[in-house]
Amino acid sequence: MSNLSKKPFIITIDGPAGAGKGTISKLVSQNMGFHYLDSGAIYRVIAFEANQKGLATDQISQITELIDEINIQFIGDKIFLTDKDVSELIRSEDIGKFASEIAKNEEIRKNILEFQKSFFKPPGLVADGRDMGTVIFPKAKVKIFLTASIQERANRRYKQLILKEKDVNLTDLFQRIKLRDESDKNRKISPLKAANDAYLVKTDNLSIKQSYEKVMEIIKSKIDR
Ligand code: C5P
Repeated sequence: MSNLSKKPFIITIDGPAGAGKGTISKLVSQNMGFHYLDSGAIYRVIAFEANQKGLATDQISQITELIDEINIQFIGDKIFLTDKDVSELIRSEDIGKFASEIAKNEEIRKNILEFQKSFFKPPGLVADGRDMGTVIFPKAKVKIFLTASIQERANRRYKQLILKEKDVNLTDLFQRIKLRDESDKNRKISPLKAANDAYLVKTDNLSIKQSYEKVMEIIKSKIDR
């Protein structure tokens, strides 16, 4: 599979919170032998650090300064903020909300643009986020927009979170995902939307394996051409 195409290329997988982008993107990158960019994690690490420093989401100049100071590293499955493993700490819905708030800001988005682009190296990249196919990598060879109903996504998140956090409430989670979707879709800069040339994959009734197979079918059909 890793020899499907010799010239390095990009696969973007965008979509709303909890659609399965992370899991599917990781599987695709492993199968293809490609690098992987979890762009949401970058916003989350910044949000985490800003929150730790007691900053509010509208303290943009302080948050931008923070971006210059911190060092985010993706090592294997782990995410490090300088020397601290923050892989689990950044996954809470509170950090997701903070991330979504600061992600509205143009200055912040500009500051991490080059960092995101630097992930594209041979033999290729699978990039997951909200604006990978529309803004960051508009020339990507394959663009996927992965989605599912809010209820389905809330159910999935609930099952993930219940393993880690004690007090998760499904109704509350549904509301939080709905609000984050709305905030991501309706912002002026780089809103969550499918690129015109993206393939839409609805995963409501699909298992992870089925979703993955569907995505791989699309990728193969594009690169075999
Ligand atoms: O994907 P994840 O849920 O980790 O993303 C957290 C938040 O970061 C999103 O709700 C969104 O506001 C922001 N984000 C973004 N652009 C991306 C990836 C994430 O604005 N490419």
